[in-house]
Amino acid sequence: MPDNALQQRVIENLLAQIDELKAENDKLRQGDVVHKGYGKLILFGEHFVVYKVPALVAAVAAYTDCTAELTSTPGVEMIDNRPAVPGYKVKKKAEQDEATELVLKHLGLDTSKQGVRLTLGGDLCAVSGIGASASSCIAIGRAVGAAMGLGLTEEQVNAAGYEGEKGYHGTPSGIDNTSACYGGILKFQRTAGDPIFEMQNLPETVGLVYASTGITASTTTVVGDVRAKKEADPKWWDDLMKRYVAVVTEGEQVLQSGDWKRLGELINENHTLCQELTVSCPELDELVDTARAAGAWGAKMSGTGRGGLMLAITPGEELTNKVAAALEAKAPQVWRTTLQ
Ligand code: MEV
Repeated sequence: MPDNALQQRVIENLLAQIDELKAENDKLRQGDVVHKGYGKLILFGEHFVVYKVPALVAAVAAYTDCTAELTSTPGVEMIDNRPAVPGYKVKKKAEQDEATELVLKHLGLDTSKQGVRLTLGGDLCAVSGIGASASSCIAIGRAVGAAMGLGLTEEQVNAAGYEGEKGYHGTPSGIDNTSACYGGILKFQRTAGDPIFEMQNLPETVGLVYASTGITASTTTVVGDVRAKKEADPKWWDDLMKRYVAVVTEGEQVLQSGDWKRLGELINENHTLCQELTVSCPELDELVDTARAAGAWGAKMSGTGRGGLMLAITPGEELTNKVAAALEAKAPQVWRTTLQ
């Protein structure tokens, strides 16, 4: 073979190998990316945060993930493989469908013309209070954005998640989707425009236990009831709000200083405010009392309330296990984690 023909063959072979490697790499990249949204626990400020005062929220390590495939049949096919407490998925199905449509619409996917198959999974147990709706909206936003090749920024993913949250309740503060999107511990504040949020750094980790009442609550109903009470008695509301702002202001300082004893006391005060707001319930109060009796440094309901979750501050592994064991005797599900 003449020299230049040989060179030509070598070059062609090399180019073919490069193409194969590129295709392999693309496949690996798509397969490797996990499109996820974290679960969250509100440390301070559920309900108050709707009215534009700061709140503190901690994402948990568990997340919902989503894969999205564009299909030739118009419409949405949803395969929901998330772990969940009994009844949750059935009760939330209509809201989940609406939230999904809102995310897709926001991203410009017209399901009357284009089909999409969404598969939800991950290790976050879908339960009221953990931000299961927001974590799924964020995961769907990320997965669909990638399938459509939109190259979304984190801010755009968060905006898509916020749109989805409107399917679960008309006036979300945005705290759940922001926590699901960015993770970590955030100070969050809703404003008339974009929300303000700031990552919080703790000097050391601290144990935390959270437990479910097993009751699935409706955020729309509870947020609506709080609004009605606020409008009916503005003086009562202003007084509660003043006390809450004092609690969250100090709460931010003690998180930063690592004063877990005071953190526990403030967490207890926030629970009292939730009781006065009428968003706690006997089942939550019982779990809160159980955690405190077992030695937790503080305990409160977390999230919408009237069911859902409570959390307890439990510095040290021994105390974490002791409080978790006490809660396990009463609650259908209990989780151990750390704030970090
Ligand atoms: C729900 O996780 C938190 C609420 O404050 C509602 C919201 O902030 O949108 C009850």
